[in-house]
Parts: sequence; structure tokens; C-alpha cells
Amino acid sequence: MENVRRRSKLTIVGAGSVGATTAYACQIRGVAQTIAIYDLDGDKARAEVLDLNHGVQFTPMTEIIGGNDIEVCRDSDVIVVTAGAKQKPGQTRLDLAGVNVAMTLDLVPRLLAVSPDAIVLMVSNPCDVLTYAALKASGLPRNRVFGSGTVLDSARLRFLLAQHAGVALGNVHAYIVGEHGDSEIAVWSSANISTIPVREWSRHGGNPLTEEDLDQVHHETVHAAYEIIQGKGATWYAIGLSCTRILEAVFNDEDRVLPVSSLLTDYKGVSDVCLSVPTIVNRAGAGTPLDIPMNDDEVGDLRSSADAVRGVGRSLGL
Ligand SMILES: NC(=O)c1ccc[n+]([C@@H]2O[C@H](COP(=O)([O-])OP(=O)(O)OC[C@H]3O[C@@H](n4cnc5c(N)ncnc54)[C@H](O)[C@@H]3O)[C@@H](O)[C@H]2O)c1
Repeated sequence: MENVRRRSKLTIVGAGSVGATTAYACQIRGVAQTIAIYDLDGDKARAEVLDLNHGVQFTPMTEIIGGNDIEVCRDSDVIVVTAGAKQKPGQTRLDLAGVNVAMTLDLVPRLLAVSPDAIVLMVSNPCDVLTYAALKASGLPRNRVFGSGTVLDSARLRFLLAQHAGVALGNVHAYIVGEHGDSEIAVWSSANISTIPVREWSRHGGNPLTEEDLDQVHHETVHAAYEIIQGKGATWYAIGLSCTRILEAVFNDEDRVLPVSSLLTDYKGVSDVCLSVPTIVNRAGAGTPLDIPMNDDEVGDLRSSADAVRGVGRSLGL
């Protein structure tokens, strides 16, 4: 009898630090039944596949395949793009735009030719510019092409806030919105610890969180990647886990609120740019961005962030 069951399939494009770590985290958490790794460097892709396969005994059953033939990507449910140039010490994410936009415009149509029903998650930098480029190159509706955006940055923010406040990270609710990059914004006006606004935290007996502390936490969040790149050349563990969380939200149809990067249209006056704001993520991809409370300064900063990201895209003909 013909087997009519379909296996869930995740393709990861790029077998570098981010791609391999994302594959590893997804394997451990059993995100998809098949994980394919595609890279121009076939030896690298096949080596990562071998190494991951040798751990299958210890993880949920996963078929792991890969190479430099685009056919390995065929019939994927979700494609994660982690390929391309990465920051050298001192470079900003926006410095990567030229080369990685060109790669995206070439790559995305070829990926969708073999997986026409896939959802595309952009991770390579500059994440927001590349998400916009991928959306344009794909011709798909906005929900099907989105970026990992500030999911990682928000995790960094929460980690630092939890440390300053002396409270478990799971009790901290705070978002970074805007660009995944230097113009990103901490939405302090709605950040809270167990419903207590962060600015009132010390009045309830917690460690004080002064304006200087909040500025420091924001500064460290924005500059975290630079520090890691200076020390070990690239960042990979936390982005691998961030991607895994996003992918679980898609594969498990979770309706999870995550600050992913998607096309905004008249969002607090911001249009025609991909940026991160809290958004419901499920099997259909990125839903409508949530109109979360922000004060006037935060909205102003979001608009400035939009101008910066849109400007880079325009300068490259997007
Ligand atoms: N969004 C985020 O939060 C976040 C976090 C960390 C890194 N990144 C970005 O992820 C990207 C990858 O970083 P990395 O450290 O893994 O880099 P890396 O150099 O380790 O790996 C990149 C891989 O991409 C492959 N590649 C290049 N062009 C390709 C193409 N056209 N098709 C298929 N494969 C191709 C290369 O062969 C290489 O193996 C960078 O742009 C980096 O800035 C994003």
C-alpha cells in the first residue's frame, strides 16, 4: 500500500556557525522529521550532516540530509536562510547589505522553485533588509516571508533585565522592536516584571532599576553581538535557539507572540519596510503585527529605525 503520510521538512540554507547550530538545536528538540542543510560548500554541508546524524541515537528521530544540490531543499515546509557574509569585527550589520541582498535575490526564487509552498524565515544580516528583499523576490504574501528580527535581541534584553532586577528571566516581559541592529528600541513603557512596570519595580521591594540601569541594559543589548564577535568571531548558540523557538511556533501552529520582522503597513505611521514588533506566529507564518502600547518617544524612535532600514534597501534598488 502506498504510504500517503507526509513528513514535516525543514531546510536550513547555510552550513556555517548559525546554520549548523540551528540544525543541532532543532534536532535536539525534534522540530521537524526531516532537516536538510544546503550550502554552496558541499563538503561542509555533508560534514555537518554526518556529525549531526551520529547523534540521532540521543535525540528525537530525525532524518538529516544535505549537500550543495538545491534538490535537497525540495518539498520543504519551512526554509531558514542563514547563508552569506557575516560581520567582521567592527562592521555593522548594515555593512553586509550589498552582498547579502544580491545573494537573497538570487537564492529565494531558486528555493521556492523546489518548495513552492514553503514559509521562508530570513536570519542572515541585515535581517530586516534581507526579509524585504526576500519578500519582493518571492512575490509571496507577507505572512510567508519573515525574519528572526529581534527575537534574539529581546532575549538578550530579558536576560540582562533579570540579572539587574534579581528575578527569574521567565518573569520578565520586555521587547526590543525595530531594526535587528543599531537603531533597535527597548519598549520600556510596557516592559514589566510579573505585571509590575520596570520603572516601579524597586518600589515593590526588588533591586532598583534606575534610568541609568535601563540605559545600560539597552546599550549592552545593542552591543552584545559586537562583544561576542570580537571574542570568538561570530555568534551562534542564542541565535540557533531563537530560530528553533520561531520554528516550533510555525511547525506546532502555536499562535506564539514573537518579535519577528515582517512587512509593516501603517503600523504607528510606519509602512513599506520589514521591522520587528510583537507578532503572532503560527503555521501560516507571521500574522498581523500587534498594536502594542508605546509612548511618543518610542514611536518616534521606531519611525527613525524604519527610515534607516528603508534607506539602506532603497540605496540597493529595493
Ligand atoms: N539574525 C540574527 O539574529 C543573526 C545572528 C547571528 C548571525 N546572523 C547572520 O547569519 C549569517 C551567517 O552567519 P554565520 O556565522 O553562520 O556565517 P558563516 O560564514 O559561518 O556561514 C555562512 C555559510 O553560508 C554559505 N553560503 C554563502 N553563500 C551561499 C549561497 N548563495 N547559497 C548557499 N550557501 C551559501 C557559506 O558557504 C557558509 O558556509 C550572517 O549574515 C550573520 O550576520 C544573524
